[in-house]
Amino acid sequence: MVAACGVFNADEVAIARELVDEHLAKGASASGYHFLIADGPAGIDGYTAYGPVPGAVNRWELYWIVVSPSARRSGLAKRLNRATEDAVRAVGGVMMVAETSTLPAYASARAFYLSQAYRLLAEVPDWHDDGDGLAIFGKRL
Ligand SMILES: CC(C)(COP(=O)(O)OP(=O)(O)OC[C@H]1O[C@@H](n2cnc3c(N)ncnc32)[C@H](O)[C@@H]1OP(=O)(O)O)[C@@H](O)C(=O)NCCC(=O)NCCS
Repeated sequence: MVAACGVFNADEVAIARELVDEHLAKGASASGYHFLIADGPAGIDGYTAYGPVPGAVNRWELYWIVVSPSARRSGLAKRLNRATEDAVRAVGGVMMVAETSTLPAYASARAFYLSQAYRLLAEVPDWHDDGDGLAIFGKRL
C-alpha cells in the first residue's frame, strides 16, 4: 500500500516495512512503533505508525499516515489521526510531531496536517536532498 501511494521512494518503503517488522518481532512497547490499522473491503485501507520520541517527556511522533489511493478524501485519515491522538493522550502524551517533505508530491500530507490543527513549526531547506526540504508539523494534544 505504501509503495502504491507513488510518493515514497524505495528507501522509504523499506523503512515502512522495517517499522512493521520491528513491531511484529518485539511488540509496540519494546519496538516503540505503534500501529492503528483501518480495514477496508479488500484489505487494509490505511494506517498510522506512531511512537514516543526517545528521550523526550510525553512527546510522540506520527511516523506515517497513509491512506490507500482508492479510499482517499472520505475522512479516513481524519478518523485514523483522531484515534491515534486519543490513544496517545490516554497514555499521557501531550504533543505530537509529524515530519514530511516540502515537495509538491506531499502537498496532500501538508494540507492534511494543517486541516487537523497541526501547525507548521519549522522548515529545513534541502534536508532530504537538494530542493527537497523537511517540514515539521506539531500539535498540542
Ligand atoms: C495525506 C493522506 C493520508 C490524507 O488521507 P485522506 O483519507 O484522503 O484524508 P481525509 O479524507 O481524512 O482528509 C481530511 C482533510 O485533509 C485535507 N486534505 C486531505 N487530502 C487533501 C488533498 N489532496 N488536498 C488538499 N487537502 C487535503 C482536507 O482538508 C480534508 O478535509 P475535506 O476532505 O473535508 O476537505 C493521503 O493523501 C495519503 O495517504 N497521502 C500519501 C501518503 C502521505 O503523504 N502521507 C503523509 C506522510 S507520512
